[in-house]
Amino acid sequence: MAEGFDKRDGWIWMDGSFIPWKEANTHIVTQGLHYASAVFEGERAYKGKIFKSKEHTKRLFRSAQIIGIKIPFSEEEIENAKSELIKKMNFNNCYVRPVVWRGSKQMGLSTNNADIHVAIAAWDDWHSYFNEEDRLKGLSLITSPWKRPAPDTAPFEAKASGPYIICTMSKQFAEEKGYNDALMLDYRGYVAEGTGANIFFIKNNDICTPIPDCFLNGITRQTVIELVKNKGFNLIEKHILPSEIDKFDEAFLTGTAAEITPIKSINNISYNVGNNSIGYELMNDFTELVNSTL
Ligand SMILES: Cc1ncc(COP(=O)(O)O)c(C=O)c1O
Repeated sequence: MAEGFDKRDGWIWMDGSFIPWKEANTHIVTQGLHYASAVFEGERAYKGKIFKSKEHTKRLFRSAQIIGIKIPFSEEEIENAKSELIKKMNFNNCYVRPVVWRGSKQMGLSTNNADIHVAIAAWDDWHSYFNEEDRLKGLSLITSPWKRPAPDTAPFEAKASGPYIICTMSKQFAEEKGYNDALMLDYRGYVAEGTGANIFFIKNNDICTPIPDCFLNGITRQTVIELVKNKGFNLIEKHILPSEIDKFDEAFLTGTAAEITPIKSINNISYNVGNNSIGYELMNDFTELVNSTL
């Protein structure tokens, strides 16, 4: 069993300087921990350079702004900190996790006197969010009983820590039942996404994906939309009902951690996977893209 993330060695950039990994601590009485008053990013570096780094930094600042946090650094400072960290950690391919949280100065729900902290960690052993074997075979999904909330219930454009409990509970529900992940519907009953990734479906030359009007419009999702359009597929963004998903031949998830991961089944519906599938081809195209735009 691997040791906890807190037991690792290396460096973490925290509040403006690099500190040894094991010393990057925060007090237990922290607003961010108690009320999920925090936002974060998930990024991936290939050959030492973060794919769409600026887009991730912009989203971090926008997420913070949406939940009322002003990050006490500039976008450029965060960009520099990320690339310095990757160098200091001697990483080539790695996952990068910036996080911004309200600290210990204020422990009610009021944010008036809250102190803001920023940290960035990186690790190189998340080759994929899903293990390699499951990725090649395709994932099995089950519909979650938890729904993506309405846009006036949760800040869906922010990568805010609070709403992630819905994803955590959905993932737990799926794994306890022996599935790899959960399909989340939205508050209206439309198909929304996976627990930490967006979803696409394929039928012949049509590639369909739900409209991101109550869930994150992932940076990978936007990249894949461009990719499939350039390949000549007909990209359709629309509301998709659960009763429609058995009409598709293939399905896959997209996300920074998940990259492109084919889906072999949702509930009792099976999808094509394997070397001859379009999903497999797109997975390889994506790998080529992220390694070539450097
Ligand atoms: C809930 C959720 N949806 C979608 C995504 C995909 O976003 P991105 O491609 O920007 O990583 C993520 C991952 O960050 C996520 O956590």
